[in-house]
Amino acid sequence: MHSEKIKNFLHKRRQAEQSGGEERIQGQHDKGKLTARERIDLLLDEGSFTEIDAMTTHHYHEFDMQNKKFFGDGVVTGYGTIHGRQVFLFAYDFTVLGGTLSEMGAKKITKIMEHAVKVGSPIIGIIDSGGARIQEGILSLDGFASIFYHNQLASGVVPQITISVGPSAGGAVYSPAMTDFVIMADKIATMFVTGPEVVKTVLGEEVSFDELGGAMSHGRNSGVAHFVGKNEYQCMDIVKTLLSYIPQNSTEEAPIVETGDDPNRLDNNLINIIPENPLQPYDMKEIITSIVDNHVFFEIHELFAPNVVVGFARLHGKTIGIVANQPMVLAGALDIDSSNKASRFIRFCDCYGIPIITLVDTPGYMPGTQQEHAGIIRHGSKLLYAYCEATVPKITLIIGKAYGGAYIAMASKNLGTDVNYAWPTAQIAVLGSEAAVRIMNRKELDSAKDPTALKKQLVDNFTEKFANPYVAASYGTIDSVIDPAETRPSLIRALDALANKRERRIPRKHGNINL
Ligand code: HXC
Repeated sequence: MHSEKIKNFLHKRRQAEQSGGEERIQGQHDKGKLTARERIDLLLDEGSFTEIDAMTTHHYHEFDMQNKKFFGDGVVTGYGTIHGRQVFLFAYDFTVLGGTLSEMGAKKITKIMEHAVKVGSPIIGIIDSGGARIQEGILSLDGFASIFYHNQLASGVVPQITISVGPSAGGAVYSPAMTDFVIMADKIATMFVTGPEVVKTVLGEEVSFDELGGAMSHGRNSGVAHFVGKNEYQCMDIVKTLLSYIPQNSTEEAPIVETGDDPNRLDNNLINIIPENPLQPYDMKEIITSIVDNHVFFEIHELFAPNVVVGFARLHGKTIGIVANQPMVLAGALDIDSSNKASRFIRFCDCYGIPIITLVDTPGYMPGTQQEHAGIIRHGSKLLYAYCEATVPKITLIIGKAYGGAYIAMASKNLGTDVNYAWPTAQIAVLGSEAAVRIMNRKELDSAKDPTALKKQLVDNFTEKFANPYVAASYGTIDSVIDPAETRPSLIRALDALANKRERRIPRKHGNINL
């Protein structure tokens, strides 16, 4: 009797493991995609996965759906470990009705999210789905709504990561967008609110799936993708590395790693990275990699708005978030996309107790009608909001130009920054010398016998007076002008001094960030 029951159970379990069946699995492989279970195996520590709700089915009868019942109902959910640390995850199963979201699928996903929030573990979603299951209509739409609700409940409590390795259509893209990081597989993942057919019907525009919503489009243009993986394997590696830098939840610390890099290591060549002529570009990433442990910088949003650089690294084994201007692109000027990119990163670091180090070399906010009309005032001010809001240790180093609004926005002292350093090469002023002279001395220059000579004299005078860090240092908005060679030890000492920082604000429901 018992043996019959066990036999029946084993049969059902095997059925559940086979998802939509061998033919569908082969179809998935033929498209160059892995199955949900293969993906989970690739991501988690070997043998660590525990599936839950494996025998869920839908309870729908219309549209011949009673003949389309598969265990799991289009999503595999459960928990396991990555490098020994627990994560909760859900992976849409394309072999079952195109991985579409059903009422039961949504219940499975939100159950996992609730568990993760209760125990304080990251949530990972693997997306390969046709979106709302058309046959289930409102039940499916309401299912999405409950996922969004849980995304918001988890936001700032546990990290949420999306791995996009297939289609993600319609409103289904909004759950990934509400997570902290999105990793898309090149040539495999697509995300769009309306597909190419709708685009053609409504706008008469011909566009391919990949061009409209492929990984590169979202990596470079929209910024939806924080990372683009060459393939699914690389996507999983990116997630593992990302997790190694961040804590399990907002009450824990990020893992501390014994990197073996000397905290007192000097770099006498660091100053030589920046050209003597401040108008010449240089690569800020060279400075970052020179300073951080073992020269390892894990960049986020590498392809999007590259005029600002953000990412994680370690200093004396502890995770830091870096925000830096990139003089190689648009001379490091701040625009709408870079302001959004940096603000979102700052807010992530602040949620999860990760100190922020800001490296400054920027001529200002980008001028022009395109930026003004697209809302640089609205978007640029998010950067101010994010820095002011952040209560984690904040350290700023001004390397070169720090002019006007961009000086203020890049974590200047009065935004609540704890330690402000500058190199002797820093130039802190309302405007660059040329522009300042043009405005202040226009009348004199217009009536001068030799305007060129006068202008040179005025510019030299302004540069000598203001294009340095010492005026700011005399007012204490720069705490120390440091020797560039000593940048690494100076930052590590500041981080150590700030390790127990506590800052309490007036309680409120939440601030109203200028979206
Ligand atoms: C029901 C669906 C489905 C859907 C796909 N299928 N999408 N079933 N509801 N939304 C089924 C197909 O009928 C097929 O079943 C199987 O899944 C695999 O789909 P294929 O089309 O054969 O696969 P492929 O060629 O790889 O194309 C995948 C796809 C395409 C790009 C996802 O299926 C597609 O465009 N689907 C529609 C996407 C969409 O518009 N979704 C609704 C978005 S609105 P059989 O049995 O024939 O193999 C939305 C609202 C959310 O999501 C609201 C939240 C706010």
